Amino acid sequence: MSTQIIRPARTLQGSLTVPGDKSISHRYAMLAGLAEGTSRLSNFSTGADPHSSLACMEALGATVVKHGSGPASVIEVTGVAGAFRHPATALDCGNSGSTMRMLAGLIAPHPHTFTLIGDHSLTLRPMERIRKPLSEMGAKLELVDGHAPITIHGGPLHAIDFTTPIPSAQVKTAVLFAGLQAEGTTSLSEAIRTRDHSEHALKAFGATLTRSGEKLSIAGGQKLKGIDATVPGDISSAAFFLCAALLFPDSNLVLDSIGMNPTRAALLDVITALGGRIKVLNVEEHHGELIGSIQVNRGVTTSAEPFVISGSLTAQVIDELPVLAAIAPFTANGLIIRDAQELRVKESDRIALVARNLRAMGAELTEHPDGLEIPGGQSLHGALIDSGTDHRIAMAFAIAALRATGETEIDGAEAAAISFPEFFSSLDMLAQR
Ligand code: S3P
Repeated sequence: MSTQIIRPARTLQGSLTVPGDKSISHRYAMLAGLAEGTSRLSNFSTGADPHSSLACMEALGATVVKHGSGPASVIEVTGVAGAFRHPATALDCGNSGSTMRMLAGLIAPHPHTFTLIGDHSLTLRPMERIRKPLSEMGAKLELVDGHAPITIHGGPLHAIDFTTPIPSAQVKTAVLFAGLQAEGTTSLSEAIRTRDHSEHALKAFGATLTRSGEKLSIAGGQKLKGIDATVPGDISSAAFFLCAALLFPDSNLVLDSIGMNPTRAALLDVITALGGRIKVLNVEEHHGELIGSIQVNRGVTTSAEPFVISGSLTAQVIDELPVLAAIAPFTANGLIIRDAQELRVKESDRIALVARNLRAMGAELTEHPDGLEIPGGQSLHGALIDSGTDHRIAMAFAIAALRATGETEIDGAEAAAISFPEFFSSLDMLAQR
């Protein structure tokens, strides 16, 4: 395990391009792998997770070629034209819940037996949520006490009419990917709307989806064709710097080419409510996804109450909650997070780990089964932080450390590479000391 020492900063200034969106990269990798022809994917995420999805596509018969390096690199994926081959080994999803859950739906209609494995953290995460709808469609999935490893005995599936019991874009995607290849028209309703990257990606690759009110429908038997696409910058990675900008009165950051999909961009409203001033400099659209550049600095907080994230807003900023919580003690009025029990079954128990690490830095807070209450106006000191090998915890506390007194040591800092390998060098570049 590697550690990183983070020293306090005076301010944050400069401009930054963050790597491609993790969620969109997974979807493009998987659909390109299934499609006919070659897809050219620019600004693909540099994080380890989407590369687990690419490796699974190779194991299933797709060809993956990387051209160039850095931001100008292009990943070419030549798909299997609708017929995955039987993989020689187990499909290794690494640390990636997205890979495991979405891939299960993508491969279940194929006439092979597949085994999906992952690292220790992934093996602790709930998988019954995908077994249920896929079994209803006729797939045979074996789990170990509700968890990975998963064995899928693939074969022809039939359409279902499904309502997602928990807000989960991964579960929705597993059903849509299976529905695309099932017999009949699959319908899906969500009580709380989750990120819609799969809907946009499926359309980009040539599938037809329809929406009637809250119901989304996809006809089976549709073929996909490879595309050329540029992945927008990851707003969940940008979130660390947007939060950092709230910490200093004279911060000024420009984040270029960030994904601004409305199902992800509620974060910008939260940043504004916590005292940020955000300017969106330009917005364009690519395959249904909005991309814009954002300028952020610290403004004023108008309310005297703690800001409350609950209900559907919780689902919309689920991945940003660790960093929002980590900087909450420095905000004027603090933060209340509720309805976030899903955070307990992410790469780590993020509620428990945020609470423990904030307390190690001297913060006062209340932990609830479904969230946290964190008063504002606190001063924190540097401490030894346990990342729990969770990328978002490692990065969240590196941001909090910028405003603490003394040095902070992040244990397990290498976890950042799961979504944002360049995080610590980007932070070094922007933090003025
Ligand atoms: C994701 C959906 C969310 C999110 C995860 C990525 C996706 O998970 O937390 O980081 O790409 O669909 P759930 O589907 O479990 O809510």
